[in-house]
Amino acid sequence: MKKTLWILVVLALLAFLGWRFLRPMNIFEVGDRFAKPLKMELPPGLVSLKAKDCGDCHAEIYTEWKESMHAKAWTDPYYQVDLRFDGNQQICLNCHIPLENQQENLVLGFRDAERFDPILAPNPNFDLELQQEGVTCAVCHVKEGQIIGPQGNTLAPHPTTRDPEMAKGMTACAQCHVVANHRWDVFYKIPPCGTVAEIKAGGQEEDCVGCHLPKVERPLVEGYPSRPSGRHLFRGGHHPPTVAQALAVQVRQRKGTQGLEVEVTLENQGAAHALPTGTPDRHLTLRLRLLGPQGQIGPEESFVLKRSVLWRPFIIDWKDTRLLRGQPKNFVFKVDQSDLAPYDQLEVLVTYHLLDKARRQRIGYQNQEPIFYPIYQKIFPLTP
Ligand code: HEC
Ligand code: HEC
Ligand code: HEC
Ligand code: HEC
Ligand code: HEC
Repeated sequence: MKKTLWILVVLALLAFLGWRFLRPMNIFEVGDRFAKPLKMELPPGLVSLKAKDCGDCHAEIYTEWKESMHAKAWTDPYYQVDLRFDGNQQICLNCHIPLENQQENLVLGFRDAERFDPILAPNPNFDLELQQEGVTCAVCHVKEGQIIGPQGNTLAPHPTTRDPEMAKGMTACAQCHVVANHRWDVFYKIPPCGTVAEIKAGGQEEDCVGCHLPKVERPLVEGYPSRPSGRHLFRGGHHPPTVAQALAVQVRQRKGTQGLEVEVTLENQGAAHALPTGTPDRHLTLRLRLLGPQGQIGPEESFVLKRSVLWRPFIIDWKDTRLLRGQPKNFVFKVDQSDLAPYDQLEVLVTYHLLDKARRQRIGYQNQEPIFYPIYQKIFPLTP
């Protein structure tokens, strides 16, 4: 009797774990902010909501934005492959092409309480050209048929309303750069892609605009007076110099008990969030190695700075070795006295990875652009 009870308990446990491994894994909660595409009225005085048309007047800002990942949030080949790999879920569109008329279907409601299974109907006003613009101007600048901006009392041909949060803060970014998850089976400290949450948790000043839209004085439209403005660059991991300037590296060599000891300190000196932030795919590697006078390669050691999440059977923050602001990290590389000859140089290499080669292969992404690049590379003479 006791034995059958045990067998039943074990079977129930196995069935439960089996279900945990097979069930669809919704890694975030669908918040009200992005549950549905944004419905927008055209402000009076404008011909369309398209960035291209804003650019007829705001030429310089348009050119800056066009180069940013926001303008490529839909056309980005990595995103397109990942979207298909993830089963073309509608929810992805609400951050990558958030305007209603960027989407082929209207969202009428949901079949499930978690809002991952929308009821769709064809959108008669779907606009293919608008779709290609990804996170377009109107996403951040149109609210209730008005253009919102940091100043308000401008000489614009379209109605403008001042939104003090725009010039400084995270409001315009929080809609997409953080998700939540309070489900019983999720144990995150920071949600995935939790840039906003990282800044709050780290006690940093609540700001994105100050760094990602660098300040300039300029006319907002050619021929108009100069005003304080922000360059719409939104640079991050896809722009190597931006990542490189955020990293400080210190290298010290000393004689250890067994031979040579190299200590490298890496510090995030440029980003209020973690370096790197965003999807847990992004990571850094540090490689230390000895080189010989004829280019011989000697002993080496590598370190990975990455966020690892255990996805199944429960979602648990496993390990986070990324660089948080104000928390430098030390790495030690030891070489035995007997392994030192014939080497006379030390190479230090820090690489930024947008994603792993393994993941690239799994999703079938044939990248044209590099998925990793060096952000620090220096050769030092070995000091005996
Ligand atoms: C026909 C020309 C024209 C078009 C088209 C146009 N704008 Fe403007 N916009 C202006 C002018 C002129 C100003 C005011 C410049 C000044 O006061 O220095 C302005 C001001 C602004 C401001 C500043 C508001 C503030 O409070 O700081 C924003 C934001 C803005 N436009 C966004 C847009 C967006 C987004 C679009 C497209 C949906 C757009 N504009 C289309 C001419 C235009
Ligand atoms: C409507 C959703 C949305 C809003 C609002 C938004 N972003 Fe983004 N952002 C995205 C998406 C989607 C991407 C990724 C695009 C890609 O790489 O395919 C992105 C990428 C970025 C990147 C990464 C660039 C890189 O090189 O990897 C930066 C930086 C960024 N956003 C900053 C901001 C800032 C600052 C704000 C607020 C002013 C903001 N974003 C508002 C959706 C949004
Ligand atoms: C991801 C959100 C986002 C997108 C997309 C975006 N802007 Fe902005 N925009 C902002 C923020 C934030 C500010 C305030 C910057 C500041 O004051 O430093 C701003 C400011 C402005 C201003 C006022 C002058 C200034 O620079 O402060 C104009 C004009 C403007 N944007 C036009 C545009 C146009 C045109 C596009 C599309 C080509 C666009 N914006 C796309 C977030 C965005
Ligand atoms: C103190 C300046 C600073 C502030 C404030 C800041 N960032 Fe960044 N951000 C950077 C720098 C520098 C990088 C490139 C280094 C890196 O990768 O972290 C970056 C990179 C990024 C990236 C690309 C992912 C990556 O790590 O390469 C995203 C997305 C991003 N920031 C979004 C935001 C958002 C959203 C906010 C506000 C919630 C914000 N940032 C606030 C400086 C800043
Ligand atoms: C809550 C808004 C949101 C949703 C929903 C969302 N994304 Fe994103 N996505 C972002 C933001 C913001 C970034 C850029 C910063 C980062 O790396 O976190 C991004 C970046 C990405 C990138 C990396 C692009 C690059 O070039 O580095 C891929 C791929 C991606 N998303 C795919 C998806 C897929 C597939 C879905 C649906 C399963 C999805 N996203 C749903 C906001 C969102």
